Amino acid sequence: MGYPHPSHPKENPVLSKHFGDPEARTYDGWVKRGGYEGLKKILRLTPEAVIEEIKTSGLRGRGGAGFPTGLKWSLMPKADGRPHYLVCNADESEPGTFKDREIMRWTPHGLLEGCAIAAYAIGAERCYIYIRGEFTDPYKIMDQAVEEATARGALGDNAFGSGKRIEVILHRGAGAYICGEETAMLNSIEGKRGNPRIKPPYPAQAGLFGMPTTINNVETLAVVPHVVMRGGEWYKGLSLSNPKSTGTKLISVCGHIQRPGNYEVTMGTPMKELIYDMCGGMRPGRTLKAVIPGGSSVPIMSAAEAEDCLLDYEGVVAKGSMLGSAGMIVMDDTTDMVYQIWRLARFYAHESCAQCTQCREGTAWTTRILERILAGKGKQEHFQLLLDLSDNMTGKTICVLSDSCAAPIVSGIQKFRHEFEAYIQGAREPALAAV
Ligand SMILES: Cc1cc2nc3c(=O)[nH]c(=O)nc-3n(C[C@H](O)[C@H](O)[C@H](O)COP(=O)(O)O)c2cc1C
Repeated sequence: MGYPHPSHPKENPVLSKHFGDPEARTYDGWVKRGGYEGLKKILRLTPEAVIEEIKTSGLRGRGGAGFPTGLKWSLMPKADGRPHYLVCNADESEPGTFKDREIMRWTPHGLLEGCAIAAYAIGAERCYIYIRGEFTDPYKIMDQAVEEATARGALGDNAFGSGKRIEVILHRGAGAYICGEETAMLNSIEGKRGNPRIKPPYPAQAGLFGMPTTINNVETLAVVPHVVMRGGEWYKGLSLSNPKSTGTKLISVCGHIQRPGNYEVTMGTPMKELIYDMCGGMRPGRTLKAVIPGGSSVPIMSAAEAEDCLLDYEGVVAKGSMLGSAGMIVMDDTTDMVYQIWRLARFYAHESCAQCTQCREGTAWTTRILERILAGKGKQEHFQLLLDLSDNMTGKTICVLSDSCAAPIVSGIQKFRHEFEAYIQGAREPALAAV
């Protein structure tokens, strides 16, 4: 990872300012950098005032769906006498996305401070941070930070002497992508199989242990201390494009790029600037072919769409895809699109919880059909079959895992049909052994 940070003048490091600085990981180091002042400040305000500040900022969830954070917090019932919970989603298993682990690795106290502020705002005394099981280092660093913050009185029975109890519990996942879906995560914390729940009821009504619950992504919560310290208006002003997409965004860039890594940019930055200026462009002699901009779960963009796209929620939608969790997979002209789409489909087939028929069968069958095409056994009918299966996998299941499998398939056929044709017509050597 390209630290020290930032590595390019066009980056706007708010969250990533202290990436690469080991001292910022410690309680004292974090306090020296202005840490925990946001928590101290809001403990003197009402929860409603904190929610208003977040609403003013225009902050939207960084976990994928982009739901307005202040609005989400305000949907929690007020003083209803029941325990409320905050769950921080640190499962980060989306192919192409690798930002949350860096937040936990370098600024664990920033995340804890964000969790404490959110917990206070929604009336929760307990926050669970659900960490992807494979994240050994981030887990150890977070564990140490929780211990330190509790020992120093930032967390615990009487946070900074406010009389408020704010407890943080780390819960490790066990290697299932589906547990990143918020209601599967709640089941997993409860010790049940990680199957998504039917909604309604929504978590704010009946979430963890049946109690009102808010779930937020690591990046969403980690930016909260900056918003409360510098003000919602300041955050709202960080946009190069439109008032619906505010702040900065950590973009994980991987694939055929000169300098892969995490880049924090202001919302509305042109994707072209990120690819060519900040990341140094394609490998020598190669040209851009395609980008999957939101982690693997979103439609594929052609090079022309990517080069004309603004990096914000609306800009990516305008080019037929979604910002999602902003893990950008960059592919050059050497890429076999059919092979890559098959790899993605195989991932979703493996990760389907198998609860919904359309997902269980659809992810498995699309994978097998793509395998046949890659093995030189493809037929013209397979195009329609893939599109029909994808249609059945879109908008018809409890969660959007199967939609995520369908998105690259449908957009891949639309934009790179000739590559499928080449396999079907025998113009290209089979990439897989006969199946
Ligand atoms: C299959 C699937 C996997 C998901 N994985 C993650 C994940 O790893 N991290 C995450 O923050 N959100 C993930 N989400 C989105 C969460 O369900 C949820 O929308 C998010 O945590 C809400 O936080 P936010 O409002 O701060 O974005 C996933 C959703 C689905 C359907």
